[in-house]
Amino acid sequence: MRKPIRRAAVIGAGVMGSGIAAHLANAGIEVLLMDIVPPNLSDAEKKNRAARNRFAASGLEKAIKARPAAFFQKDRARLVSVGNVEDDLQKLAAVDLVVEAIIEQVEPSAPSSRSSRRSSRATASWPRTPAACASRR
Ligand SMILES: NC(=O)c1ccc[n+]([C@@H]2O[C@H](COP(=O)([O-])OP(=O)(O)OC[C@H]3O[C@@H](n4cnc5c(N)ncnc54)[C@H](O)[C@@H]3O)[C@@H](O)[C@H]2O)c1
Repeated sequence: MRKPIRRAAVIGAGVMGSGIAAHLANAGIEVLLMDIVPPNLSDAEKKNRAARNRFAASGLEKAIKARPAAFFQKDRARLVSVGNVEDDLQKLAAVDLVVEAIIEQVEPSAPSSRSSRRSSRATASWPRTPAACASRR
């Protein structure tokens, strides 16, 4: 029996990640869009969720404003929530699909994948290539 994808997470909220998140939302899928916590936050910002999620929020904002449109209907953006890979990794346990869309270097990709796999119910093998890729369980 095939399991429907109802919730997904996208790690990396850049050009690819925010676009992928928008297309998943276009298909009616709830998406958690995650990025790193911005470096060099002030002490006050380090305790502020909005500041910690700034990169992911910026990616979502760019997708909302993208021309040609990334979201087929503006209200689909409500299906996308934002987070970061330090505070929200455990949320991957509740999604059906994880898409990684970060930079093509083994070092940043490998720890992210290992942490994600620890937090996730995924049974499929995690992609070994650091390129944008998806793992369906
Ligand atoms: N942009 C394209 O047209 C395109 C096309 C095909 C493939 N790709 C591939 O997709 C991947 C992403 O490309 P892009 O253009 O979106 O890059 P980008 O630089 O626009 O975005 C990358 C994002 O990943 C985030 N990031 C970096 N390390 C992270 C980590 N450890 N955890 C979470 N987030 C992290 C960065 O902060 C950034 O927001 C690359 O591997 C690229 O080669 C891009």
